[in-house]
Amino acid sequence: MSTTKNWSKSSWHDYPVLQQPNWPDEATLNEVLQSISRLPPLVFAGEIRDLKASLARAVHGEAFLLQGGDCSEEFNRCTAPNIRDTLKILLQMAVTLTYAGGKPVVKVGRIAGQYAKPRSSDTEMVDGVELPSYRGDMANAVEPDPQARIPDPQRLMQGYNMSAATLNLLRAFTRGGFGALHRVQAWNQEFVKRSPMGRSYERLAKQISQALDFMQTIGIDTEAPQLKQAQFFTSHEALFLGYEEALTREDSLDGGWYDCSGHMLWIGDRTRQIDGAHIEFLRGVLNPLGMKVGPKHDIDDILRIIERLNPENEAGRMTLIARFGAKGVEKYLPPLIRAINNEGMNVVWSCDPMHANIRKTEGGRKTRSFDDILSELQCFFELHWAEGTVPGGVHFELTGDDVTECTGGAHELSDEQLGQNYLTTCDPRLNAEQSLEMAFRIAEMIRT
Ligand code: PEP
Ligand code: CO
Repeated sequence: MSTTKNWSKSSWHDYPVLQQPNWPDEATLNEVLQSISRLPPLVFAGEIRDLKASLARAVHGEAFLLQGGDCSEEFNRCTAPNIRDTLKILLQMAVTLTYAGGKPVVKVGRIAGQYAKPRSSDTEMVDGVELPSYRGDMANAVEPDPQARIPDPQRLMQGYNMSAATLNLLRAFTRGGFGALHRVQAWNQEFVKRSPMGRSYERLAKQISQALDFMQTIGIDTEAPQLKQAQFFTSHEALFLGYEEALTREDSLDGGWYDCSGHMLWIGDRTRQIDGAHIEFLRGVLNPLGMKVGPKHDIDDILRIIERLNPENEAGRMTLIARFGAKGVEKYLPPLIRAINNEGMNVVWSCDPMHANIRKTEGGRKTRSFDDILSELQCFFELHWAEGTVPGGVHFELTGDDVTECTGGAHELSDEQLGQNYLTTCDPRLNAEQSLEMAFRIAEMIRT
């Protein structure tokens, strides 16, 4: 495969770049990046190609994308129980959606590299003090202390190491039996089991187990990898381009360039300028790409960006992640669908019902309501069906933990209860129970 025209993994340096930390010391930054560039890739080109092939099926409605995880991973929460519980909830959601939708679910975590955050401002006020904004654990520390907020390039190396440790465990879990369909009941966590959703899940899991037992009884091989292993991919926002460049490698098989920091990379709503460094960098790597599209977009601009990122119109290359909000989706989505459709562009249409549904409580906490999230999702599906296009996936901020960050759901979590276990350093996430409930509600919509 020939390299993309006039592109190299460092050509982005010639373009304006937004949302980078103000690293205090260029020389140290370059040393760290040099070291990372000599370290092994985190993921492999063959896996990236597999994901792209799965996403190509989602373009045509033959598969469904489930993407989810933390808004912002944290170094001190890179623990086995945390990783296991995120994986559990994603597997539970995936099996619920597969059972209802009758098609494979492509599982992609916001995990093993989601350490860099775009911010609306370079500084933020904390208790009346102006501090450099927290830009994710790969840049600075969240502690509201001026010293802790100074970006430290060593954190890039720490991010690489944490991603490697996370991926190592994910690979062990998914390949080593934990992700086997036979274990479908074990993915239900104790605190979820007691909830109505947990009980619905128990019933579903029982049906699957019975089907597997039946297959075994009549002599069908249930040792096949499709049943014994789960396929699980990683993704993050490709934000700190020096880090992404350092992990970009040429594949010895096809000669193409792959950003081996994660399988899928997405471009945030704030960094998708057509003449900007992020688009320049991403156009040359062969990973599947997501692009967030919020209310502030220009349709022609979006078309030009897709053309630049996917000139061959390869299915599986582009996933458009619409995030318009429960109030905006009816206004913004249909014109965008029509424009993309008119051009015959192959995209996976995914819905991020999180990022335009943020509200502040009276107490000043950032939260999201279960009902707003569900409402945006419902509109997303219905608008696609009305246009005759394929709603191909969903994108969530969620955790396997029992947190209280989003309101609503079966337990009708109120604004006042948010303080009970509000842990996120960035955006509010659905907890395991709310996530499972969301999966059941989507399942009702897509039931075949
Ligand atoms: C995110 O996904 O965490 C994020 C910052 O999203 P967006 O770019 O859509 O605002
Ligand atoms: Co977020």
